[in-house]
Amino acid sequence: MIELKQINKYYRNDEEVLHVLKDINLSADAGEMIAIMGPSGSGKSTLINTLGFIDTKFEGEYLFEGENLITTTDDRLSKIRNQTVGFVFQNFSLIENYTVYENVELPLLYNGYSFHQTKEKVMAVLAKVGLADKAEKHPRQLSGGQQQRVAIARALINQPKFIIADEPTGALDTHTSNDIMELFKELNRQDQVTIFLVTHDPEVVPYCTRLVQIRDGAIIEDRTVIEA
Ligand SMILES: Nc1ncnc2c1ncn2[C@@H]1O[C@H](COP(=O)(O)OP(=O)(O)OP(=O)(O)O)[C@@H](O)[C@H]1O
Ligand SMILES: [Mg+2]
Repeated sequence: MIELKQINKYYRNDEEVLHVLKDINLSADAGEMIAIMGPSGSGKSTLINTLGFIDTKFEGEYLFEGENLITTTDDRLSKIRNQTVGFVFQNFSLIENYTVYENVELPLLYNGYSFHQTKEKVMAVLAKVGLADKAEKHPRQLSGGQQQRVAIARALINQPKFIIADEPTGALDTHTSNDIMELFKELNRQDQVTIFLVTHDPEVVPYCTRLVQIRDGAIIEDRTVIEA
């Protein structure tokens, strides 16, 4: 599904050139759940921003389902991004004065669905993450774990091929982290959604099928944890 070939990325300013991704070769198939680990500043976020079509300035090739999308127009790329990848962040990134329903509905707004189609889709993903009864609440009325579930529902609403989660359990206690990892695992198993999960937490790794370790912009380890 995904193939990164010889990716190199640089940040340049007046004084220096920073080489942040070094000869990255990484392939991922449907149904994999890949933990990405490495020290702060090693390039994890840069790598997943590349995977998620957010960062398109790099050397090398990114093939998605055999196609080089990076050369496509910005408009088409944002459309593909919207329909292909869901994002989940450490701090949930919900809109505080929107209800749970409205937060989850957001990525659907420009897709031209009717009111009823939208409602059906939003309620289905909320049910999937166990929050069907919280649709009319606001984020501040929910626990951290529940807020992360809302963010996961929002990431799922367009039935993405893959999900990118940057430290999704970083702001949660151990028990709640385990709940969220169980949810990711369930989505991964049931729907074959590929998941890339950046984490500092070794306890997250056993939920994953594969572990990729990054040091100083390069992949130093890429191994199977459990069969996908
Ligand atoms: N927009 C930018 N301009 C210049 N340098 C950047 C930019 N974004 C990131 N960097 C640098 O690129 C390197 C990799 O950053 P990145 O955010 O990918 O690290 P990370 O592994 O996600 O770290 P963390 O665990 O702290 O989130 C760092 O040295 C960082 O300072
Ligand atoms: Mg980061």
